[in-house]
Amino acid sequence: VSAETVRALEDLHAGLPPLVAAGDLGADLAGLAASPHYRRALDYFRDYPATSLMAPEGKALLYHLVRLRHARIAIEIGTYRAGTSEVLGRALWAEDGVLVTCDPNTQRTTEVERRLDSWPDPLRRAVSYVNFPSVALFDRMEIGRDSAYDFILVDGYHEYGYALFDMTMTAKHSLPGAVMVVDDFALPEVNWAARDFAAAHPAWRVIGDVFARQDPARPFETVSPSVAGTNFLVFERARVHVLSSRPSVFRYGNLASSGARGFDFTPAPGAPAGTLFAQVILRAAAPLPATPEQQIALVSTRIEAGQFSSVLLVDPPLVTQRVHDRECELQLIFRPDDGVSTLSLLAKPELIPA
Ligand SMILES: C[S@@+](CC[C@H](N)C(=O)[O-])C[C@H]1O[C@@H](n2cnc3c(N)ncnc32)[C@H](O)[C@@H]1O
Repeated sequence: VSAETVRALEDLHAGLPPLVAAGDLGADLAGLAASPHYRRALDYFRDYPATSLMAPEGKALLYHLVRLRHARIAIEIGTYRAGTSEVLGRALWAEDGVLVTCDPNTQRTTEVERRLDSWPDPLRRAVSYVNFPSVALFDRMEIGRDSAYDFILVDGYHEYGYALFDMTMTAKHSLPGAVMVVDDFALPEVNWAARDFAAAHPAWRVIGDVFARQDPARPFETVSPSVAGTNFLVFERARVHVLSSRPSVFRYGNLASSGARGFDFTPAPGAPAGTLFAQVILRAAAPLPATPEQQIALVSTRIEAGQFSSVLLVDPPLVTQRVHDRECELQLIFRPDDGVSTLSLLAKPELIPA
């Protein structure tokens, strides 16, 4: 266990005016160096905690981002010695939030647990450490046992497939407006995973023109982070749902009704013209040994430019006679007339019960 003394718990923003977000993370971070809130975090975390693998700028930015966005449910993939978990935990404690941090390493388990137990009680309660790989956390999320995240730190196994998987799965279980920080993104495998993630997830915007600055003629030399002084690529999830040529999936679990007659939509202002294609799947279980039931309907509707509400009718409705574990899945693909635009929805489509 590190001999470093654990500091008392304090709100680093005490005495400062409230930290107000402009709503655009890129703009907020452009003025970072001048922010008194950030500078205070930078001082505080300059040499503390020694167990974090991050540079002071990285630790301070993580603290700042959690406070700026008032994050409440955060996840860290890759606990290591719980140094960065403490930084995040201190910010989340101040926001009345919680952190889940995971790591499969068993050699550091005792050290991590001792470190956590040495923290002040409220900080200890704000952080839960699980000694298993990220996939086991995702398993829990898939069966609905864990809630969605508004702050994500991807810092696990820095191999292409793992990094892409960690980004993809945490994004799937995130909330609109969530922030994702990818550490060590200058490593070529993490970098390409982040690029492929960005290309496949139009709702996630990269902060800083990170990829545009990369020169194919000097591919390693021109890698640069979202925020100077860190090794981070920062993503921000749009507050709207973005529909594109890749399917977007919406789930409606524990249906109180026997099926679906359609869905109500609210496109964001300035909707582009195009066609919305939907695959609707109704599933229902039954006491074993009966096989589960699955019904599928394919429907589509036109979206006119500027349209602000729309109904997608399933005709005839999908209806089941069964009463157990009824759930509906809506898969949407938007094909814009101009070939490039995406369609933003202000909210998850509302199921019209049958
Ligand atoms: C770079 S370190 C994390 C550093 C830590 N976040 C910090 O800032 O101090 C990467 C960690 O990821 C862990 N790791 C490896 N594979 C993992 C997986 N599949 N899921 C979660 N963590 C993993 C490793 O055991 C290692 O502790």
